[in-house]
Amino acid sequence: MFGPFATPSEVRRLRGELKAARSLATRLLQSKLAEALAAQMLRRHTRDFEALQEFVEKGVLSRAAIVHKTEDSLAFYRRLIRGYDLAPERILEIGVKGGGSLLLWRALFPQARVVGLDIKPTLKDLPEGIAVVRGDQSDPKALKRLARNHGPFDLVIDDGSHVSEHQRISFVTLSRYLRPGALYVIEDLHTVAKPAGGEVDYGADVWGDFVRAVFWRFQKRPVEELPLHESLRPLLRHVTDMTMGRRQLALRIGEPPEPVDEG
Ligand SMILES: C[S@@+](CC[C@H](N)C(=O)[O-])C[C@H]1O[C@@H](n2cnc3c(N)ncnc32)[C@H](O)[C@@H]1O
Repeated sequence: MFGPFATPSEVRRLRGELKAARSLATRLLQSKLAEALAAQMLRRHTRDFEALQEFVEKGVLSRAAIVHKTEDSLAFYRRLIRGYDLAPERILEIGVKGGGSLLLWRALFPQARVVGLDIKPTLKDLPEGIAVVRGDQSDPKALKRLARNHGPFDLVIDDGSHVSEHQRISFVTLSRYLRPGALYVIEDLHTVAKPAGGEVDYGADVWGDFVRAVFWRFQKRPVEELPLHESLRPLLRHVTDMTMGRRQLALRIGEPPEPVDEG
């Protein structure tokens, strides 16, 4: 075809056709790659989603007042489950109340062992795979004991006292008992905005400062000049990314810090 019989105009035409074929192949390849990537990113966890919807819409759990998560909060967890492709094996929730959320975690992650920590546990007859421990989330010794017996955790949810100082102590202590890539969720961050003098003093916000410092670190700006509780400063570098809801913060811990000397 390119021999002595091809005229210059035929060669030009064939070159043009080859160029068009190449660009078509490139576009096809590009769109196939994009489709594959999108499918991977959008992979749905319909079973988990349906389980959540059923619990909430049918009111099974909320009618019995045993799950204390708003729809907003459940939507936040749905985002985490889908976004992070969560499949935790060990879950800790601080704050058990009626135990509804412990059941919810178990229903969502049947393979997981779920442990709840509560200062005043009332639950009896715990289903298989769920344990409840009595303890105060502001007591590092109690937290370490719990973590040594039940950790390391892939998912921690702090839905306990909502006192910011307690939340800080729990995070600082428990961050050392996480699996690489674990998610640490702090619930009901709005409580610190409640006026002082109420039934509970929730204290001053620590998470706003922490989030800003993590963000500055991502931007490679100097964080030393930012106000931050000193116990939180060394943890900044362990946070690989964050997800925020209206009232919740999820911190992703890449490589957890070493456990401190147990003495
Ligand atoms: C908001 S409720 C938990 C709701 C539950 N996580 C749910 O979603 O169904 C808060 C619980 O935290 C417990 N709590 C309060 N202060 C605590 C503390 N200092 N340490 C551990 N638990 C605490 C309370 O006894 C209560 O059961």
